[in-house]
Amino acid sequence: MTAPSDDDLHVEPHPIWGDESALVEIAVNWAAQRVVRHTDPLSTARPASELATAAGLTITPKGIGGEEALRVFDEVFEPATRSQDDPYNLAYVPAAPTRAAVAFDLVTSSANIFGGLWESGAGAIFAENEALAWIIGLLGWPETAGGCFVSGGTSGNLSALMTARETAKTRRGGRPVGGWQLACTENAHSSIHSAARALDVDVVDVPVDDRGHLTGPALRQVLEASPDVFAVVASAGTTNEGLIDDLADVASVCREFGVWLHVDGAYGGAGLAAPSVRARFDGIELADSFIVDPHKWLFAPYDCCALIYREPQLARAVHAQHASYLDHVDREVWNPSELALHLSRRVRGLPLWFSLATHGTDRYTDAVEASIATARAVAAGIAASGHLRLVREPELSVVLFERPGFSDEEYSAWSHEQAVSGSILCVPTTWRGRCVLRLAFVNPVTDPVRVIQLLESLR
Ligand SMILES: Cc1ncc(COP(=O)(O)O)c(C=O)c1O
Repeated sequence: MTAPSDDDLHVEPHPIWGDESALVEIAVNWAAQRVVRHTDPLSTARPASELATAAGLTITPKGIGGEEALRVFDEVFEPATRSQDDPYNLAYVPAAPTRAAVAFDLVTSSANIFGGLWESGAGAIFAENEALAWIIGLLGWPETAGGCFVSGGTSGNLSALMTARETAKTRRGGRPVGGWQLACTENAHSSIHSAARALDVDVVDVPVDDRGHLTGPALRQVLEASPDVFAVVASAGTTNEGLIDDLADVASVCREFGVWLHVDGAYGGAGLAAPSVRARFDGIELADSFIVDPHKWLFAPYDCCALIYREPQLARAVHAQHASYLDHVDREVWNPSELALHLSRRVRGLPLWFSLATHGTDRYTDAVEASIATARAVAAGIAASGHLRLVREPELSVVLFERPGFSDEEYSAWSHEQAVSGSILCVPTTWRGRCVLRLAFVNPVTDPVRVIQLLESLR
């Protein structure tokens, strides 16, 4: 491929939009510079009133012009967003997309492919499926498994649970008189509760063991008492602590009771690629559906969730939309729109595919292992510090710790000071009723030694 010349980039002015060539160039240049420049840990939210004043009126009948709109974005709007990929942004679940993936997001956008149907997106969907096949291999599922990319874990969980509920309805001959239930522990992600509300099903709480895990025996007790449970949601990496439920025992109880097992690996599913923790996921090969968010710990940009079913035809039976204007759609081919609660979709799996194809899966393993090693090193540093207390050994890459003697207000104040100074983003959370500090590592560049040094400010 040769680089385009200026002439190649020049296009005839559009009868309505006019000549946008210069604008295309400055927008693409802005993006190219953003991909290579260092993140700015000081970029942060501002009140809407301040943004309104700083930006001025941008949507007007005549338009302010692309150059001016890009200036406003560059100087006002983008600095009022957080750098998710800053190596010392360790709050919530940050992100660390490869440059290859981000660059390919631009390519994906420019191609503007309709990824709902094979007929319009075949090549791109094929490439997405290659990336899914890698994940399916990590799961140890049969090659007949499959799925699609959706916007995030919340929508992936909802689509999977919708499939589970409709499958139960078919298999058990209708809705139970008292309605359906799904079972999970208190450590399941909040999006499971959102999905339950959307599906109008009740959530049955399964008590966790002393490690915070969902276990087979506790699940068995719940399923014996609750015959209307249609699905169990297990976590492969809880958000708060990075815990992996006892998947092997849970899967075997689910099979015994004929209940769908959905595994939420939105954050922690990336650990499947890491040999040092792979054994913790044993049993996942028996689950019915699974999600992982490559925009969390598989180095892809937002928004990207891989939703995978052991038997994709069950999802198709639930999610395929039918209408006269869709009559001619070929149903014999792989249509991602039939596998989740969506119709139009961008081919958001392509940046992951490109990055995987570019770097190879071995480097993905190295990158995930790097975060796990960082978490372990930071945990060891905290345990040895003398002024901090490690709450528990990390199972994946989330570290919880305390500063004995600190009040909730002191935690908040410290966290706020660090954020304002741009040194580290570390926000408090609640663990077993106590306020503690939490660090989530997903960026292979984060230096554990520097993190430990930064935590000296807690002395
Ligand atoms: C375990 C888990 N599940 C689901 C989600 C929701 O994912 P999303 O924010 O992509 O909707 C998250 C988000 O942090 C998560 O950690």
